[in-house]
Amino acid sequence: MKAKMIVEKDFTVGEVDKRIYGSFIEHLGRAVYGGIYEPGHPSADEQGFRGDVLELIKGIDVPIVRYPGGNFVSGYNWEDGVGPVELRPKRLELAWRTIEPNLFGLNEFVDWCRKANTAPMMAVNLGTRGPNEARQLVEYANHPSGTQLSDLRIAHGYKQPHQIKTWCLGNEMDGPWQIGAKTASEYGRIAAESAKVMKWVDPSIELVACGSSNLTMATFPEWERTVLDLCYNEVDYISLHQYYGNRDKDTANFLAQSMGMDAFINTVISTCDYVQATKRSKKRINLSFDEWNVWYHSNEADSRIEPWSVAPPQLEDVYNHEDALLVGSMLISILKRADRVKMACLAQLVNVIAPIMTANGGGAWKQTIYYPYMHASIFGRGTVLVPLISSPKYDAKDYTDVPYLDSVAVHNAEAGEVTVFAVNRHLSEALPLEIDLRSFGGFRVLEHIVLECDDLKAANTQDAPDRVAPHSKGASVIDGNTVQASLGKASWNVIRLK
Ligand code: AHR
Repeated sequence: MKAKMIVEKDFTVGEVDKRIYGSFIEHLGRAVYGGIYEPGHPSADEQGFRGDVLELIKGIDVPIVRYPGGNFVSGYNWEDGVGPVELRPKRLELAWRTIEPNLFGLNEFVDWCRKANTAPMMAVNLGTRGPNEARQLVEYANHPSGTQLSDLRIAHGYKQPHQIKTWCLGNEMDGPWQIGAKTASEYGRIAAESAKVMKWVDPSIELVACGSSNLTMATFPEWERTVLDLCYNEVDYISLHQYYGNRDKDTANFLAQSMGMDAFINTVISTCDYVQATKRSKKRINLSFDEWNVWYHSNEADSRIEPWSVAPPQLEDVYNHEDALLVGSMLISILKRADRVKMACLAQLVNVIAPIMTANGGGAWKQTIYYPYMHASIFGRGTVLVPLISSPKYDAKDYTDVPYLDSVAVHNAEAGEVTVFAVNRHLSEALPLEIDLRSFGGFRVLEHIVLECDDLKAANTQDAPDRVAPHSKGASVIDGNTVQASLGKASWNVIRLK
């Protein structure tokens, strides 16, 4: 059993848009309160932003963070979160059945983004609200001065406009669980009208229309077709969301699920291009995969949480080693279509289905999924090369011909480096991998990072934060232009060549 990969400089998929390494903070559970914001925490700064969390986020180099939701945004009035904190209302939050204290809002988020070296991606409420409130929010955030709303921002202490470039037109509007859910035609029209006036306020912004909430929605992909038909000229991206779980305790099948993600991405691209053809348009719509992750561990615990408290521990999935492998494969899926996927957000960033966990008043630690996300973000910048791979395969419950090797290479011409990301899906055997570097001469192996663990269910916790952590002792040797590597059973690998 052996896998082979050809890494060829001239066969390119496309440039990595660094925003594919984005993430997401929703007003949900302890993402904001107790996560990124906890006044009085020993590491908190004068604005209450947790310094320990900021450090862990900077370690990933997250280029963009989506905010404030999520399902939350569909019932949110942005005005509740600006101005003097003591005047802000407490509200019943219907999406997650909590109480929202509004101690943190738009301006705090923009300040926090600056401190986290990231950029905001703002979602507007198209559930209970519409074009008018959306354009008012853009005016408040981005208009320099001289109007009621821009001057209000200045009165709130923000003289410079926030210059928020990327905006989401609502969230999962096809889902019956969404406050103000809509049919595709209802949504397509509201998205078009909102987009129009938002861009009239600030023509420099770019807009993401809602695609399907996941690939099993009954209306997928007709939803995308209808929505784009109605707002093609006004928007720039269409969103994709997808979460996976291992409820059946079938790891071979669980790890194969990124093949479903590949098909999802390809179908959305085809639908965008079909609508483009119907419109005889030169404009191309790209993809924003703005929610993706593993999410299922916390489902049962969440059903036991009493409603109407502030920042309860919702969606606190504790991730294990096999989750990190699937997250690695999902990153590979996104990279493989770097030509069209221009943004992606690991959902979410802190505490809520997140790579980073905190204890209120206590420490912060890295979950297993932190590592593939960090490696891809740090080393996966440059040009994605066409994955020319041959691999032994297996059949799983829902997928056939699943390659044991899931891999892609990124060429960073500036650094003179090629990085191969590879998951060995085999659960009990190492996979020998031969990498043919035919068009790259004189390379050496800089590092072969491996995330592996004998126990697929092992997780990192506050008491054992380093149970699953990467090492750099991977087995890769180069001879001429050929690398011989051994990928341990059920492992995530980062082979750095220079
Ligand atoms: O990320 C958690 C939730 O998942 C989001 O609020 C929603 O958009 C999706 O269903």
